[in-house]
Amino acid sequence: MINKLINGDIWKDTCGNTIHAHGGHILFFQGVYYWYGENRTGNRYVSVYSSTDLMNWDFRNDVLTTESKTEKYRVKTDTSLVTDDGSKINIERPKVIYNEKTKKFVMWMHVENGRDYSLAACAVAVSDTPCGQFTYLGSFNPFGYMSRDCTLFVDDDKTAYFISASRENADLHMYRLTDDYLNVDSLVNNLWQGEYREAPAVVKHNDKYYMFSSYCTGWAPNQCKYAVADKMDGRWSVLTEIGDETTYRTQPAFFLTVEDSGNIYYFSDRWNGKDYNDSRYVVLPLEFDDEGKPILEYKDEVEIR
Ligand code: DGJ
Repeated sequence: MINKLINGDIWKDTCGNTIHAHGGHILFFQGVYYWYGENRTGNRYVSVYSSTDLMNWDFRNDVLTTESKTEKYRVKTDTSLVTDDGSKINIERPKVIYNEKTKKFVMWMHVENGRDYSLAACAVAVSDTPCGQFTYLGSFNPFGYMSRDCTLFVDDDKTAYFISASRENADLHMYRLTDDYLNVDSLVNNLWQGEYREAPAVVKHNDKYYMFSSYCTGWAPNQCKYAVADKMDGRWSVLTEIGDETTYRTQPAFFLTVEDSGNIYYFSDRWNGKDYNDSRYVVLPLEFDDEGKPILEYKDEVEIR
């Protein structure tokens, strides 16, 4: 049993294998936490692990691979999961949310051609169960825009938002999703023009929305900044620095609000740009002062609870 996770170490699942859930996301569903993330080994794209204590993670499935089922659900989506020469495409920052109306698990992600970052597309996949094989519905450019680093956020009223870096990463777009979460419905915000924000992650605390993001420096870490808003599609504040100049050698992946305790954790990647599969995780508690200012301090170990 694991009761302390060492930040920056290799984290293992309950079978003793390295956890590959990079640039990921945790979904809480019916008493279980599901951790989805990038797995670039073999023919895999996205793997999922589950846990009830947030410390011990069971490997559950490779939910998106080169062999996944595909289905074209709109006229112009590209459903190829390999390139013309059979090599892998590049899938980054997969996020999964649950749609209460359709009872589907919906994954959004960033897709590239496996050679460079020129495609700048997003893609959607769906499943009837959290750990089942997702059906890949294909990639597209939302309203024709470039779409790179991304995140999803579901508000209390179940409105979902997809946020992604656009215009060669210069601006951050926020789209409200359709009720079934399968498409963008409207571009509701275009944020921080020319600031080149990547790795967005949103958390709600005391009726305020906080968005963390990094600057654009490839795999190298940089200073994280956050902004605050009263409404997702409202006005966001200017960007304010948080953490140290490399955000403790991390880049945001997502925030987790623990169901019972209400504790909030900053989940991040400590990338290894030279050996991607050796990339690590750093999880830090996110705290707030009396004025609602977020505090992110480094800790060598973490107990997620
Ligand atoms: C930074 C992004 O946040 C990562 O997801 C990845 O796209 C790297 N850049 C690639 O350099």
